Amino acid sequence: MTKKQLKEDYQLKERFKTESEVFDREALLDLSKLMKKGILRCVDYPISTGKEANVFRATTPDGTYVAVKIYKNETAPFFRKIEYLEGDPRFERIKRNDRDIVRAFARKEFKNLEICQKLGIHAPRPFYLINRVLVMSFLGEGELPYPTMNMVGPLHGEKDLDSILEAVKMMYKASLVHADLSEYNIMIGDVPYLIDFGQGVILRHPHAERFLERDVSIILKYFRKHGITRGLEETLRWIRG
Ligand SMILES: Nc1ncnc2c1ncn2[C@@H]1O[C@H](COP(=O)(O)OP(=O)(O)OP(=O)(O)O)[C@@H](O)[C@H]1O
Ligand SMILES: [Mg+2]
Repeated sequence: MTKKQLKEDYQLKERFKTESEVFDREALLDLSKLMKKGILRCVDYPISTGKEANVFRATTPDGTYVAVKIYKNETAPFFRKIEYLEGDPRFERIKRNDRDIVRAFARKEFKNLEICQKLGIHAPRPFYLINRVLVMSFLGEGELPYPTMNMVGPLHGEKDLDSILEAVKMMYKASLVHADLSEYNIMIGDVPYLIDFGQGVILRHPHAERFLERDVSIILKYFRKHGITRGLEETLRWIRG
């Protein structure tokens, strides 16, 4: 096979992978509901296909771009992360079956994004949720999504670190810990935007403080690699106020 054929073959396989895993009957029905309700006009292209969710760029009837995150029916990854649901008083009564657990993570992300929205944190604005399908504002410029920080590095140096830690502190004061923070879940536009809030817990979760320490330590380690150093203990003290 030539390189071009290999690439086409790969793209075709990726497409079928996406179509069979994400566009199952339920997700297709939910997308069609969103279209009937006038929330979406069309789904444009996949931005990311991952283990837990696929994210698409879509367009609303008035031509605005949005992002649509479709949580996968593949339940194993969600069962592995069940501690984020179980310790969170908002979700402790969730039934442990396949359908409810995935929906619970989607709802958790939606609720956490609502909190961020109220706080004025740079994160996607949540618009709509049906079952496993979450519609939110599109973070990007023109046609393209912003890159994640792991792809481009902290574009604005120490300013980006300050902005991320400021967001972590504001969330903490409002009782929210991201709990999956890393350079992979930060998109770099004019400022850093935090994404992927499905794991986020409130402070009454018994491990909330440990999750906060992990989030901050991952971020500080990443910035240290880029020559920007800050101490973990002093940063945590500052966040906890
Ligand atoms: N609001 C958005 N606007 C534009 N692009 C987005 C948006 N939200 C997510 N993305 C893109 O989709 C990718 C995956 O999103 P996210 O991190 O929320 O999913 P995930 O849970 O990590 O999925 P998986 O674990 O299956 O990879 C991000 O890295 C980012 O590139
Ligand atoms: Mg992610």
